[in-house]
Amino acid sequence: MKVTVFGIGYVGLVQAAVLADVGHDVVCVDVDQNKVDNLKKGLIPIYEPGLTPIVESNFAEGRLRFTTDAAEGIAHAEIQFIAVGTPPDEDGSADLKYVLAVAETIATHMNSPKIIVDKSTVPVGTADKVSAKVGSVLSTRNERIDYHIVSNPEFLKEGAAVSDCMRPDRIVIGTDSQHVEEQMRELYAPFNRNHDRMIFMDVRSAELTKYAANCMLATKISFMNEMSQLAERLGADIENVRRGIGSDERIGYHFIYPGCGYGGSCFPKDVQALVRTADEIEYDAQLLKSVESVNYKQKEVLFDRVFNYFNGDLAGKTIALWGLSFKPNTDDMREASSRVLMEKLWEQGAKVRAYDPEAMEETQRVYGVRNDLDLVGTKESAMQGADILVICTEWKVFRAPDFDQIKRSLTYPVVIDGRNMYEPEIVERHGLEYFGIGRGRSITA
Ligand code: UDX
Repeated sequence: MKVTVFGIGYVGLVQAAVLADVGHDVVCVDVDQNKVDNLKKGLIPIYEPGLTPIVESNFAEGRLRFTTDAAEGIAHAEIQFIAVGTPPDEDGSADLKYVLAVAETIATHMNSPKIIVDKSTVPVGTADKVSAKVGSVLSTRNERIDYHIVSNPEFLKEGAAVSDCMRPDRIVIGTDSQHVEEQMRELYAPFNRNHDRMIFMDVRSAELTKYAANCMLATKISFMNEMSQLAERLGADIENVRRGIGSDERIGYHFIYPGCGYGGSCFPKDVQALVRTADEIEYDAQLLKSVESVNYKQKEVLFDRVFNYFNGDLAGKTIALWGLSFKPNTDDMREASSRVLMEKLWEQGAKVRAYDPEAMEETQRVYGVRNDLDLVGTKESAMQGADILVICTEWKVFRAPDFDQIKRSLTYPVVIDGRNMYEPEIVERHGLEYFGIGRGRSITA
């Protein structure tokens, strides 16, 4: 089938590449000429395992094209995906200006019926706004052309985006049209083998499903982070508690890992946006507000430990930091806990020596060159001349470090672990002091 995808960001590029990979004929449209030129040269703007080879091969075989020419993209296909960004407004609600701009462009150039599919994460009611926009442009053009607005939210995880897209848990489609249902079934048939993963519903429910899913997951994490605070103060080990509750199938083992707070492009933004949506309809979303504030506090936990360990005197201290990205297997620094830690350390006059397997370039881009930040090439060199070690991201390369070397390198033999990567007994056997999250050992002021 022919498909056009507007927006070659994270969601758009992965979706387009995966659709092309199963044989669809895909045109990607973006306003950023530079991005389009780079993609034509095989330069992929994001780090995502498995993405580069499928972009390159499908581009070479002509099934995946990149252009800034919107009219060409609109003429190409009946199915038009909108996968542009919805950055938070100043007040935290999702900004729809890019989504509506694409809707306007499509309406301006369309000469045949279109199925316009919202892939971007958009608040409930956006499909109606998109529909109104398309309708008004068509009426000023004095044209009557059929169009349908469909909600098809994306559930991919960064670092596993290609495999999530290839093997989705579910494909949610919000539409009330039989024709759209048939077209969507055909489009997604290659991903819908063995058992039916397609869930059809009304548009508003599909829009809310996306937020409900992310907010539920964020709630699980904030719940566990709150439990970890209790565990720490009560002398219990949250890792035992986690195993104890996860064994109940109704709770399950997924997404109950305590840590130094959730980050990324989705959870913080989506929880905030749903709180704003609730505010708009004058509903006080107390649980969601708490999920957000618990997370905000949890991101400060690592800093508080360092601060308390040095009795508030951080001037001139050097902190070794392992892991900068908001989670492993990505270079994404959006809302990463490492940022809260670094910024607070800098405020107190401390220096950071950091290593991350992928996110150092991105860190450099975000913070520029500064004399209180050294980005170094290995996890070992991060510890050279450092006072203590803090871990923010659970990259695989940090799983089995040489604890004796850590002890020799640091001025103070202390490991503060924001992701509970180690067994406390093992670390302590090597003569290090170990502070995880909620493990019954806290550093108090
Ligand atoms: C998330 C959703 O998982 C995905 O379905 C949605 O489409 C987009 O948002 P992503 O942000 O890529 O994906 O990452 P995810 O793996 O969900 O992790 C989000 C954050 O939660 C990370 O900072 C991670 O460290 C944290 N996390 C996750 C925890 O602290 N504990 C957990 O148990 C799980």
